[in-house]
Amino acid sequence: MRVSAVIPAAGSGTRMGTPTPKQFWVVHDRPLIVYTLQTFARSDFIQEIAVPASEDGIPLLRDLVRRFHLDGKVRIVLGGASRHHSIRNGLLALSPADVVIVHDAVRPFIFEEIFRPLAEAAWEHGAAGTVMPLVDTVLAVTDDGFMERSLDRRLYRASQTPQAFRYEILRWAYENASEDEMLHGTECLELARRAGARVRLLEGSPFFWKVTYKPDIYTAERLAMERARQVAIVTGGSRGIGRKVAESLADRGLRVAVVARGGEAEEVARRIGGMGIQADVSRPEEVQRVFEAVLGRWGRVDVLVNNAGIARWRRIAEMGDGEWQEIVDTNLSGAFYCTRAAFKTMAESGNGGVIINIGSSSISGGRVGEGAYAASKAGLVALTETTALEGKPYGIHAFTVIPRRTDTALRRALYPDEKDADLLDPADVARVVTFCVTEWMPHLSGQSFWVR
Ligand code: C5P
Repeated sequence: MRVSAVIPAAGSGTRMGTPTPKQFWVVHDRPLIVYTLQTFARSDFIQEIAVPASEDGIPLLRDLVRRFHLDGKVRIVLGGASRHHSIRNGLLALSPADVVIVHDAVRPFIFEEIFRPLAEAAWEHGAAGTVMPLVDTVLAVTDDGFMERSLDRRLYRASQTPQAFRYEILRWAYENASEDEMLHGTECLELARRAGARVRLLEGSPFFWKVTYKPDIYTAERLAMERARQVAIVTGGSRGIGRKVAESLADRGLRVAVVARGGEAEEVARRIGGMGIQADVSRPEEVQRVFEAVLGRWGRVDVLVNNAGIARWRRIAEMGDGEWQEIVDTNLSGAFYCTRAAFKTMAESGNGGVIINIGSSSISGGRVGEGAYAASKAGLVALTETTALEGKPYGIHAFTVIPRRTDTALRRALYPDEKDADLLDPADVARVVTFCVTEWMPHLSGQSFWVR
């Protein structure tokens, strides 16, 4: 089945009351329409995409299509005076197909899983739409602002997009529609019905809603963030701060790969519904295996938390080469191997991501017996800042989260006699890490966040 799409985007956005039409509203780093186009462009199921845009919108859209590498499938055409006119122009710009999916540019959070069942239903019945039960009751009204009657909402559905049509039916419907319908009609399914289709209705989704009013932008921002940050790798995730970070990210809906040297990674992963990987991050080949496993299973890495760390209490004069090496290899080189691998996949995906290094308050002021530990943690701050600079063109953000003394097994082993009251709760550190992951901070990267 040859399936193409028309994505009308020529509206002027008058309901929002803003000079910029809503399809060009920027949510995080890209306008809403880019989210929509990316979902269609990514789908192997869709051959060609026509996007009707207004005269003013065309140069803007051209630029976006280039910037987000959508040129392969997208054709920009001039829209019309109404949504129907725009869709017709789009349809005429497509090569003949079996089925055409029509979808509003301003419903950016659709998912591609709907394309196949929708197109198949359209192929079988002539046309298919997505619908939702009504949440508000619909009233018939008089011209002068009075209620005429109420409709029984159980009998009605709200019509969403995407909708799909047999190509020939939609062509015919538009060729035979009156100018009045073309200008004032709003429902393509109605035209298809009159063209002989028995319109099949599939269940839509709250996520297919049309961004229309100001509060919708806030929802869009949250959803965009959720889509951008889906998969996390947390090293040293079986205990202490790492474990709390893994739990906290999982609570926020991320899929988390828990990496640890010991077998406990599996157990933590099981509890949070994630993936446990036993690996030593100080060994580059093991880091490679971690990334292969996560990419193989989940196809992406959006968040990396370099938390794995070891410490020994030893004065510099007494520290052996091996001990020094082991600490630096795990705390600093391990973070480097992971960062390098994460950077590569985050840059290639075009989605960017966030890399967080867990530092330590020992990085400043010096601390007797913690030379290797402090030096390796201080190195992480420099690594973060470089990652931030090099990551900027790719949307990769980097932060160091620097906890003061925290109540972890690592700390307890160094200072068995320390009093609880002096120590930070690892959950508080995890909160700051989670903040860095789930908040959109476009102009912040490279910073250190101290948790005191
Ligand atoms: O106005 P409404 O919210 O129904 O618009 C739905 C979709 O139709 C939007 O993506 C809008 O850009 C598009 N549209 C169009 N041409 C018009 C009017 C609306 O492509 N003349």
